Amino acid sequence: MCGIVGAVAERNIANILLEGLKRLEYRGYDSAGLTVIRDGELHRERQVGKVQALVDAVAINPEFFDGHIGIAHTRWATHGEPAQRNAHPHVSGKIAVVHNGIVENYAELKEELIAKGYEFTSQTDTEVVAHLINDLYKQTPDLLEAVRAVIPLLHGAFALGIVHVDSPEELITVRLGSPLVIGVGIGENFIASDQLALLPVTNRFMYLEEGDIAKLTRNSIQIFADGVEVSRKIHEIDAQQHNADKGEFKHYMLKEIYEQPDAVARTLEMAIDSTNTSKLRDDFLQRHEDKLSGIRNIQILACGTSYHAGMVAKYWFENLTRLPCSVEVASEFRYRNPVVVDNSLVICISQSGETADTLSALRDTQKQKPTGLVSLALCNVATSSLVRETDIYLPTLAGPEIGVASTKAFTTQLVALMLLVLKVGATQQRMDSERLGTLLSELQQLPGQLYASLHLDAAIKTMSESFEDKKSCLFLGRGLQFPIALEGALKLKEISYIHAEGYAAGELKHGPLALVDKDMPIVVLAPKDSMFDKLKANMQEVHARHGELFVFASESSKMVAEDRMHVVYVPDVCETLAPVVYSIPVQLLSYHVAVMRGTDVDQPRNLAKSVTVE
Ligand code: AGP
Repeated sequence: MCGIVGAVAERNIANILLEGLKRLEYRGYDSAGLTVIRDGELHRERQVGKVQALVDAVAINPEFFDGHIGIAHTRWATHGEPAQRNAHPHVSGKIAVVHNGIVENYAELKEELIAKGYEFTSQTDTEVVAHLINDLYKQTPDLLEAVRAVIPLLHGAFALGIVHVDSPEELITVRLGSPLVIGVGIGENFIASDQLALLPVTNRFMYLEEGDIAKLTRNSIQIFADGVEVSRKIHEIDAQQHNADKGEFKHYMLKEIYEQPDAVARTLEMAIDSTNTSKLRDDFLQRHEDKLSGIRNIQILACGTSYHAGMVAKYWFENLTRLPCSVEVASEFRYRNPVVVDNSLVICISQSGETADTLSALRDTQKQKPTGLVSLALCNVATSSLVRETDIYLPTLAGPEIGVASTKAFTTQLVALMLLVLKVGATQQRMDSERLGTLLSELQQLPGQLYASLHLDAAIKTMSESFEDKKSCLFLGRGLQFPIALEGALKLKEISYIHAEGYAAGELKHGPLALVDKDMPIVVLAPKDSMFDKLKANMQEVHARHGELFVFASESSKMVAEDRMHVVYVPDVCETLAPVVYSIPVQLLSYHVAVMRGTDVDQPRNLAKSVTVE
C-alpha cells in the first residue's frame, strides 16, 4: 500500500527520497510523487506509474529539487483513480502532506472546507488533511501545534508526513494505525513506512507507537504522546540481514522461492534442540508455557496466503492435539459479531503484521475479554503492530519478502505453525514423546526436500507453456492439500491474471465439473497419502470429460503420464508435512506462467504487499 519517505538533512535529499521510494515499490502503488522545499518554495513532481517515471521527471530539472527537507510518496489508489492530480504530496498554501491510510470522515470535512473557500484539486481524502492543517496554522502559526489540533478531527487509520515552507527545518510526522518509522542519522533524520527504505542512509530506527506525533529537525527528534513529550528507544539493526536485493535472479519472487530451504531451516533452528534433535529446545516459547497450558480452543485469523497457512494448521491442531480449531478470514470475522470462547488461543498469522483486517479482528477478540484469552502473532516482521499488540510472538524467519506474491513467508508460516502444534501438544501432554520425536525428525528433512523440489523448476517451466493462453484454471487437492490448491489458485491469479479456483477434489461433482472441457487446465496435488485413491477417482472424472490434467505426484505414486495427463514427480515426503513441499511446484508454476504472459511479477496490478486499509 502507500509508502512514505521523508528527510531533513544538511545534504540534498532528493536522491534519498527517490531511492527510498524505489525500496518501497514492493508495497504496491500506482503513482509516485515528491516535494522538496527550496528557496522558500515547494517544488513538487508527481507521476502516474512507476517510480522510475518520477525519477526521469525529476532529472529534467534536477536543480529544482536540490533541497534539504522534503517528503515523498507512492500511492495505492483508494479515493480517486490513479492520476497525477490524485498523487501525493498534496499541497495547501505553503503546506505539503503525504499520507498512508484512510480518513473515513473526509467527505464531511471536505464540505466544511469548501464552505470556507478551500479549493480541491484532487479526489483524495488526503487533500482534506492538507487544507485542515493550513486552516489551523492560520490561527496557530506553529506546524506541530496545527497538526496536533487536526488529528482529533480525523477518523480512520493513517500515517502522515508534513512540511511547511515557513518552517524549512521541521518535518512533522504522525502514526495512527498505519506503519511509520523514524530513521536516526547524524545531523540528519528521516521517516519512512518501512525501515527498508532508509537502509542506505541509516541502520538506527525508532518505532513510533500508535498516536505518536513527532517533530524532526536535522539535529533533534521530539516525540509526543497525548501532548506529553516521550522517548522511544533507538534500535540498531544489522543492515546486511535486513537488506534485500534480487541478486542474480530476474524477480524477487523467484529469489524468494529459492530461499525457502534456508528460510525453513532457520525457522526450525529457533525451536529444535541441535544437541538432541528429537526434542524441542527448552527455551522455545518457554516463558509462555503457563499460558499455553490453559488453552482449550484455537481460533486462527488471517488473510490471503496467511489464511491458507491457517487452514493447514487447523488439520494439524485437530489431528495431532485434538484441540478444536477454527480458522476464518479476518475481513469476515471482524464484521460478524463472533463468539470467542473462554480459554481460546487466538493466532493471528501475517507476513507483514500490518494487515488492517487482521489487526482489527484481533482487537475485536480482545474487546470481548473472554476469560483466559491468549493472543499470538505469527509474523515475519518483529517490529510490526501485530507483534506489539499480542501476548506471544512466534517469528517466521523468512527474511524480508519483497514480491507481492507470498512464497517463503507461507512455507515458514507452515513450519512455525507445526512447531507451535508440537509445543502445545507437548505442554498439555496431548502428544507422546515418540510422536513428537518422529515429527521433529520429519521436520528436519524438510529443507532437503524443499531443495530437491526446486530441481523441478525446468520441468515445471515446460509444463507452464500449456497455460500461457488459458483463461481459467482449476487447482484440486484433498485433505491437507486442499489449502495448497487454494494457495496455488491464489498465486496463479494474482501474478498471471488467469482466473483460477482451488477446490477440494471431492467437491468437483457438486458443481465445478460443469466447467471441465479440453480448454480448462486442471492442476492436481497428488501426494501418495491416505486420500490418494479417492483423488485418483476424482482425476478420472475429469479425464473422462476431456479435461487436461497437470499432476504433481509423489515419486512413489507410480502415476504415469498419458494423453491429456502430464505428471511431474515431487520428492516423497511424509503426509503431515507434504503441504510444505507441494507449495513449491504451485509457486513455480504460477511464476513461469506469469513470466510467459509478461506480467509485472513482483508488483502485480492493483495489489499491495501490505494491505493497511480495510
Ligand atoms: C499473497 O500472495 C498475497 N499477496 C496476500 O494474499 C497476503 O497473503 C495477504 O494480504 C495477507 O498479508 P499478511 O500476511 O501480510 O497479513
